[in-house]
Amino acid sequence: MKGEKFVIQGLGGRRVLEGDVEVRGAKNAVLKALAASVLFNDTVRFQNVPRIEDVLRAGDILRALGADVTLEDGVPRAVTISKTFQTELPRDIAAKLRASIVFTGPILARFGKVSFPHPGGCVIGERPIDLFLSGFEKMGARIKNREKSYDIIADGGVLKGAEIFFRNQSVTATETLMMAAVLARGETVLLNAAREPEVESLAQFLNSCGAKIEGAGTSAIVIKGTKLLSAGARVYTTPPDRIEAGSFLILGALAAKKLTIRNCDPSHVMSLIETLRATGVSIQTARDSIIVEGRGTPQSLRSVHVKTAEYPGFPTDIQAPMTIFLTQTSGRAMVFETIFEGRLGYVEDIIRMGARIDVCDPHRVIIHGPTPLRGRELQGPDLRAGLAFVIAGIIAKGESVVHNVYNIDRGYERIEERLRGIGVDIQRTQ
Ligand code: EPZ
Repeated sequence: MKGEKFVIQGLGGRRVLEGDVEVRGAKNAVLKALAASVLFNDTVRFQNVPRIEDVLRAGDILRALGADVTLEDGVPRAVTISKTFQTELPRDIAAKLRASIVFTGPILARFGKVSFPHPGGCVIGERPIDLFLSGFEKMGARIKNREKSYDIIADGGVLKGAEIFFRNQSVTATETLMMAAVLARGETVLLNAAREPEVESLAQFLNSCGAKIEGAGTSAIVIKGTKLLSAGARVYTTPPDRIEAGSFLILGALAAKKLTIRNCDPSHVMSLIETLRATGVSIQTARDSIIVEGRGTPQSLRSVHVKTAEYPGFPTDIQAPMTIFLTQTSGRAMVFETIFEGRLGYVEDIIRMGARIDVCDPHRVIIHGPTPLRGRELQGPDLRAGLAFVIAGIIAKGESVVHNVYNIDRGYERIEERLRGIGVDIQRTQ
């Protein structure tokens, strides 16, 4: 709900959290699988769907386009593309949800045309869409750029296979053009493609329903165009959210006696695990769980430099929680955010909590630790920084209030309930 806030009583550096926390399905996987339902001639069913705002918005987009969407507990669980499907993304919803752009590939590929508003940039950066537009043009589409939206039409109503080299590795551009290529005529080759696990899990599901995609998860993906896909009795199972798993791992490294993170895939967060181990954190991994044990105080941990990178490098979506962690370790640490130019703005609030951070430029900060943090009022600018503020409030001395919880609810299902389950004093209020 808009206007809600979290009130957190800080631990003041004590290590008292313990127990188990369950990871939910990955936001950045299920949003694309929902868009992929446009490629199907029958009903697509979904499970392990996280109950988060972005998923509810994706369901709203599908319903606005004319799909039959079955909701359970407000969450899309089945989607059927109807005969009355239309091809213009609803402006009000699409402009708010950056991920709405992934719907353009499947719609253009199936119906030969698509219209959509320029997706909103957000606080983390300008978020261009040139890679999407140039990819569609290479596949034989023409683009008409109206004042705040785009009309795209495939010549002859059908996309053609093409070879596309992404000058930047883009997760959603890779996924969108991979989905478009599934129904294009001929073969498409995507080079310098994003290698995130979400790309691979999407391709695996589409292949199980008749697509011919090879190389997903590597930087070269080859797609042979086919006819509409059929799910039959197959159900899409959302893979675990590696960003949630990493965020809980950082919290455990800061404030837990012993925390077990369940329903996750440790192999998807190895960059974070090895970075935390380099500071001295004790971490064990099993097939679908991670155990982090706190020994002594965080101050006995060593600072390390962190540079975000495309997968399998250090994830930009965990950069903010990692910066909070580094305010508590001993020494100097540079955080170099290489992906987005606007993703360090939150550090000003962490400095006001007591951290010592030098801002070098829009991409780099230097953290001098350890410094105790004092609780304060905080406005989370985006969902990942919002969660970082929750972590900062949990380890700080005194009370913190984190506003615009809607941002956090976009990517983390009822996070306060799971935090209370491991010993955090956190309440959601109006
Ligand atoms: C995806 O965003 C994720 N979102 C982001 O998570 C994540 O931070 C990002 O990948 C990087 O891992 C979803 O999957 C819905 P990009 P995406 O296109 O695909 C440049 C979260 O909090 N670029 O990989 O939009 C762009 O400027 C979100 O869950 C172009 O130049 O990010 C950036 O520098 C935040 N032209 C770089 O690519 C384009 O056409 C990577 O952006 C598109 C992107």
